[in-house]
Amino acid sequence: MWSTRWSRRRMILLCIWATLVFLLQSAVSVKEHDFKKCDQSGFCKRNRAYADDVSAQSSIWTSPYDIIPESASFKDGQWQAVIIKTINNGERVRFPVTISLLKSGVARVSVDEEKRQKKEIELRHNSKARKERYNEAQDWVIVGGLDLDKQAQVVFTDKSHASIKYGDDGKFEVVIHFSPFELEFRRNGETHIKFNDRGFLNLEHWRPKIEKEGESAGSDEGNADAKRKTNGAEDESTWWDESFGGATDSKPRGPESVAMDISFVGYEQVFGIPEHTGPISLRQTRGGDGNHNEPYRLYNTDVFEYELDSPMTLYGAIPFMQAHRKDSSVGVFWLSAAETWVDIVKEKDSKNPLSLGKTSKSTQTHWISESGILDAFVFLGPTPQDLTKKYGELTGYTAMPQEFSVGYHQCRWNYISDDDVKDVDRRMDKYKIPYDVIWLDIEYTDEKKYFTWDPHSFADPVGMGEQLDAHGRKLVVIIDPHIKKVDDYSVSTNLLSKDLAVHNKEGEIYEGWCWPGSSNWIDCFNPKAIEWWKTLFRYDSFKGTLANTFLWNDMNEPSVFNGPETTMPKDNLHFGQWEHRDIHNINGLTFHNASWEAMASRKKGERRRPFILTRSFYAGSQRLGAMWTGDNQATWEHLAASIPMILNQGISGFPFAGADVGGFFGNPEKDLMARWYQAGAFYPFMRAHAHIDSRRREPYMLGEPYTEILTKTLRLRYSLLPAWYTAFFYANRDGSPIVRPMVWTHPSEESGFSIDDQLFLGTTGLLVKPIVEKDKFSTDIWIPDDEIYIDYNTYQVLKTQKAKRVTVEAAIDAVPILMRGGSIFPRRDIPRRSAAAMRFDDYTLVVVVAKDGSAEGDLYADDGDTFDNEKGQYIYRKFRLADNVLQSTEAEGRDLKSIKPGEWLQAMREVRVDRITIVNAPASLDRKECQVQSEGRAQSVKVEYHAAEKGRAAFAVIGRVGVRIGEDWSIQLA
Ligand code: NOJ
Repeated sequence: MWSTRWSRRRMILLCIWATLVFLLQSAVSVKEHDFKKCDQSGFCKRNRAYADDVSAQSSIWTSPYDIIPESASFKDGQWQAVIIKTINNGERVRFPVTISLLKSGVARVSVDEEKRQKKEIELRHNSKARKERYNEAQDWVIVGGLDLDKQAQVVFTDKSHASIKYGDDGKFEVVIHFSPFELEFRRNGETHIKFNDRGFLNLEHWRPKIEKEGESAGSDEGNADAKRKTNGAEDESTWWDESFGGATDSKPRGPESVAMDISFVGYEQVFGIPEHTGPISLRQTRGGDGNHNEPYRLYNTDVFEYELDSPMTLYGAIPFMQAHRKDSSVGVFWLSAAETWVDIVKEKDSKNPLSLGKTSKSTQTHWISESGILDAFVFLGPTPQDLTKKYGELTGYTAMPQEFSVGYHQCRWNYISDDDVKDVDRRMDKYKIPYDVIWLDIEYTDEKKYFTWDPHSFADPVGMGEQLDAHGRKLVVIIDPHIKKVDDYSVSTNLLSKDLAVHNKEGEIYEGWCWPGSSNWIDCFNPKAIEWWKTLFRYDSFKGTLANTFLWNDMNEPSVFNGPETTMPKDNLHFGQWEHRDIHNINGLTFHNASWEAMASRKKGERRRPFILTRSFYAGSQRLGAMWTGDNQATWEHLAASIPMILNQGISGFPFAGADVGGFFGNPEKDLMARWYQAGAFYPFMRAHAHIDSRRREPYMLGEPYTEILTKTLRLRYSLLPAWYTAFFYANRDGSPIVRPMVWTHPSEESGFSIDDQLFLGTTGLLVKPIVEKDKFSTDIWIPDDEIYIDYNTYQVLKTQKAKRVTVEAAIDAVPILMRGGSIFPRRDIPRRSAAAMRFDDYTLVVVVAKDGSAEGDLYADDGDTFDNEKGQYIYRKFRLADNVLQSTEAEGRDLKSIKPGEWLQAMREVRVDRITIVNAPASLDRKECQVQSEGRAQSVKVEYHAAEKGRAAFAVIGRVGVRIGEDWSIQLA
């Protein structure tokens, strides 16, 4: 008895100690030495050394990988063969390769290792791990787009190479060089991407460990390649085990890395591979002025107070890289769930025929993954839109969001009680500050036992939820993947008794430290674990939660305080006996997925869209919810860094992204708060969040004029919610980023490619550049085209010139926003307390007339809650101004009469266009009335015309218009 009490007390002390250590660590900046550099990661170091070796001997070097010509076959869009790797001792290792040409025009190259495939290998240390290279990443990541292009044709083949044409009209071509194995991907006869052109392909084959007495670790045992003209022996020191920060990885399968060079021929800039801080146009990584010294790393990790402008890994990984040059975009998606490093080098390219005397550059990349098969998808564009769409076809598009989640989220670690939550809710109303969601961080639980409530501070969660509901508001609660290991907690006892947790290398349940102290981790690779997880979220099971409760998944990298690099040991075992090293980067996605499944089945018959925020992510996570950029700091530099990070998420297929508004660590000054809310108002996911040690900073706490500034900013966000929702719709439909960088919207304007501090919001034509510097009250916005640009706040017409910058004033209460001529965007202008309260408000349309007198835009709306949109229950309008007629038509030409309206569509019958503001209005509108036609009736509506003056555009306000938003209508402007 005494001893149980003592051990419990010791446990509590240990918990406090662990938390203190963590908080203390949080208070200082990132500890570089806690995270590996390439030369501290065996396989990265080996492959970089291999590349250096190869480069040093490039004139005499030949890659040891050859295709056996006789092994090649082609059927139904798939080319298969065997690659042989020849080793010093004459041994030949077989690697089956498949090149799949997909109907979408994407090519897929997969290489496996025969011996491991056939399980003809021995594991060390009596390991129970799987013997194969991990090949199941696709089961988690790929959801479509795999149909083969049966029209693809081998157009040439002999003993040295084969050439296959594929894609529409055979405009794409892959040339397979046999000896050595190299691939060239061409579009309309021109090579854009090369694989193994530099000979860095390195598939570390399985070999037994041979204990050689007296031999140093640096021997070249069985591995030096026959064709490799090098005397340098390979460094075996990290083949069989590897230590870092006091932890040893037992590596039962020995070295298994897969690495290859991928060159983007004639492309000087590459983008993507989040999550990192730094510019969207990626830097070189092999040193030199302005370059990094380290490769970009992808190994999802809980990095405290991360560094800015760094290739260091962060919480999520999307190994999708895009290369852009004027009028051409291509890309590669490297489907590996293992730790991956990517080196980037740009070389002058004299050979490129397109250079026409100009020195062009090519970008050469080197991808290095620790384990698994080689699996790469090649996209040949030619537009950024093609890449986004095809990538989305494979990995899925952004889920249509819960409508409230596009509003403003109020969070901190932590609202201390249910009364505190209710009080914040009341005060937001008192100050007329719109918000939709209040969040609860880990302290709401009873001693960090998820699915429970602290009995003292959150004694009445239902009362709290009901008050929020009465105000149309939602609650988000955090649930992490670590489960406190204690006997009196049924979630823990069930997890253990049902054997649903991650195991250690010995096959025992893995135990580590996180917020609750000693914990176990649910293994969401296990289908039974997902089934069990679902049961925990049912209303009758997670007591205290209501229909307005949604979810936050944090620490799912997973974060393990006492684990190597704050995560799990790589030799831990998951369902299917896969080692953690094989699946690490998709671990977060699997937890997010289990939570999605759980939230989608809280109650039988209830079909509502889950909203789940995740910190860790991988390609495909966009199907499941939103992400945020983790633990940033309340500094101007972090504010600035958030914009490129969010833009990068957008072009990398996961656009529902935000950063902690205000900054997580520290206490932001008031002007920083003002500017951060203004930037946050243009994050797809807008949530204020703060560390437990920071001072309270709800918008009403700031005092005037700042509370008013924040309120005004939030109203701006809310008035544009219909435009935001429409932007989400496009992300859902074709993968378009919600906020868009210039390289994506204007792929012909080279001078805009690397601009990553300004953005277009969806299709609105709103060009926004938040101020991210202290004491700055104007900014220079780069103008991408020859259209007219008008200040959103003042209607001043800016004196712009394509590809030049224009100065825009922005006092502390203003966000620099320009309206591009030719755009029409929807708004809802009545200030309300929440998105829910605005659901059936009338719309305002803003028409910004182009130089040629035209304009166009769109609106998408649905119930923002269920999946009825998939059954046609939505409104999708195209607005067009041409020849002085402004029209609204059904965007897809659907026959609306054939759609039986459900509850939401019926209610929308009474939602109308209130006002139409025409900016840069034609002089023909200088009159009192104009004619509106709809539903077979014509009526006159009032026009208020304001002539242009002192640089301000002419504008006209038409209204009240009164036509139904869901019906066709037209207005004669002249
Ligand atoms: C780490 C998250 O990044 C942070 O947002 C959260 O407040 C803490 N975990 C506590 O849950």
